[in-house]
Amino acid sequence: MNDLIIQNIQELILPKSTDKPLKGRELDELEVVDNGTVVIKDGKVVYSGPHTDDYEAKEVIDASGKVVSPALVDAHTHLIFGGSREHEMSLKRQGKSYLEILESGGGILSTVKSTREISEEDLFKKAEHDLLTMIKHGVLTVESKSGYGLDKENELKQLRVSNRLAEKYNLNMKHTFLGPHAVPEEAESNEAFLEEMIELLPEVKEYADFADIFCETGVFSVEESKRYMEKAKEAGFKVKIHADEIDPLGGLELAIDEGAISADHLVASSEEGKAKLKNSDTVAVLLPATTFYLDKNDYADARGMLNNGGAIAVATDYNPGSSVTNNLQLAMAIAALKLKLSPNEVWNAVTVNAAKAIDADAGTINQGDQANIVIWDAPNHEYIPYHFGINHAQKVIKDGKVIVDNEFKLD
Ligand code: NIG
Ligand code: FE
Repeated sequence: MNDLIIQNIQELILPKSTDKPLKGRELDELEVVDNGTVVIKDGKVVYSGPHTDDYEAKEVIDASGKVVSPALVDAHTHLIFGGSREHEMSLKRQGKSYLEILESGGGILSTVKSTREISEEDLFKKAEHDLLTMIKHGVLTVESKSGYGLDKENELKQLRVSNRLAEKYNLNMKHTFLGPHAVPEEAESNEAFLEEMIELLPEVKEYADFADIFCETGVFSVEESKRYMEKAKEAGFKVKIHADEIDPLGGLELAIDEGAISADHLVASSEEGKAKLKNSDTVAVLLPATTFYLDKNDYADARGMLNNGGAIAVATDYNPGSSVTNNLQLAMAIAALKLKLSPNEVWNAVTVNAAKAIDADAGTINQGDQANIVIWDAPNHEYIPYHFGINHAQKVIKDGKVIVDNEFKLD
């Protein structure tokens, strides 16, 4: 006997199962089934496709008038941090730029201070709250970075919290060591600090899948990023990079040359870098909520990347400074408006391609897949990025069980 049937689904969204990320025009290919059915047994999808009455199950959910999709994948977050930085809003109003705030000891460094001060238990509770908010918004696969500790003790504290969260909720999380995220005040020099982080690589390997670095003016150069990525690969990591967020340093080209699994941000990437995406499987993870939050006019050139045959994904970049949202649906809306993605492209960018960017088995609900599914209170898949800023996720189903029900009725 099957466990659950989701029946009468108005629109069933079925991203394609693929070994490689969807590239160029493929990103616009999405199977949308009118009047669909999903059948689940033992936490796995037994059937997903056009309406059928051929199956029986212990429980049936009627999804008339609703959209059903794979649970979303947030492929770039800084989920685990102490404190918050709402006071920076007034600095921004006074005209201070992101890098100016960072140079004056604010920005990332103020979060480093709060993250060092907070106990591991309190850090766990804070990140847990934020993670559960993500889940309520339809995300069941999350990449989570360290990078606010900037020393051995506190980087490990962040990574332990990330691993403990994955364990507690049996979640498909990927953990990333981002030791070279900024240079702490006590460091003798950028080079000396980078060497310190390189030395940590073998030890943090136990807790992290990926190694990441912030390649930016005033932080780490392309040369330094290259050295770090090569050392990380020697230590057994797959590599990622925060690249060309503000200045076009060539981080995207470096990522492709180093075979990085993803290159993230890419707002200022060069034409050469974008053209290089064609012959690579490096996923360009675009973070339009960050560009919005930093109040920049120019967004990453998603259309140029796709025209060049590149693979792109979209994520929140949730962090306390440059993208203070853990609602991936909001990033979907900004991606549709500002990256000029079609609805099909948006959905693939937060499901199957986001999964490829973090090497996760997620983002599809075809036969045999884990039954991680969202029922959306929306009439069609275009509606979700269109009606922006609210939570459309009605039920979140993890491993075949409803774990979130956002529906409520007033008596
Ligand atoms: O991805 N760009 C660098 N790191 C983060 C911001 C971190 C912060 O401001 O606290 C980002 O945007
Ligand atoms: Fe980031």
